[in-house]
Amino acid sequence: MTDSELVALAKQARERAYAPYSNFPVGAALLGRSGRIYTGCNVENAAYPLTTCAERTAVTKAVSEGEREFEAIAVVTATGATPCGGCRQILREFGGPHGDLRVLVADTAGNVRVFTIAELLPEGFTPNQLG
Ligand code: THU
Repeated sequence: MTDSELVALAKQARERAYAPYSNFPVGAALLGRSGRIYTGCNVENAAYPLTTCAERTAVTKAVSEGEREFEAIAVVTATGATPCGGCRQILREFGGPHGDLRVLVADTAGNVRVFTIAELLPEGFTPNQLG
């Protein structure tokens, strides 16, 4: 699975976004260490705060299917937006002891920026800190 293949899957997942309130569809594709891919999209609700972000959808799908270790996640938006703070925390939980999970931030034109989750969430709260 190449980075561009993962981005392409996230772009497809974005087509399935349910975002009638924001009109800001987001797609994600999460690559597990097993090689399996878990896609996600944002799922909004008329009760606005109940919205689920695309990244969170993907992580929840993966963990509920038994996968907890991940190589990379691609996130696609029209503007190449970076994940929100809440999603950074969710990703950090499963981003490895050093936060090496790669986060591919892409726009629909094909521009991609690559970060690690540790870069996106410096000095973040991690499972290690619970002792
Ligand atoms: N959204 C995501 O899906 N992921 C993010 O990291 C940022 C925001 C969604 C939530 C909402 O449906 C829309 O984008 C606008 O905030």
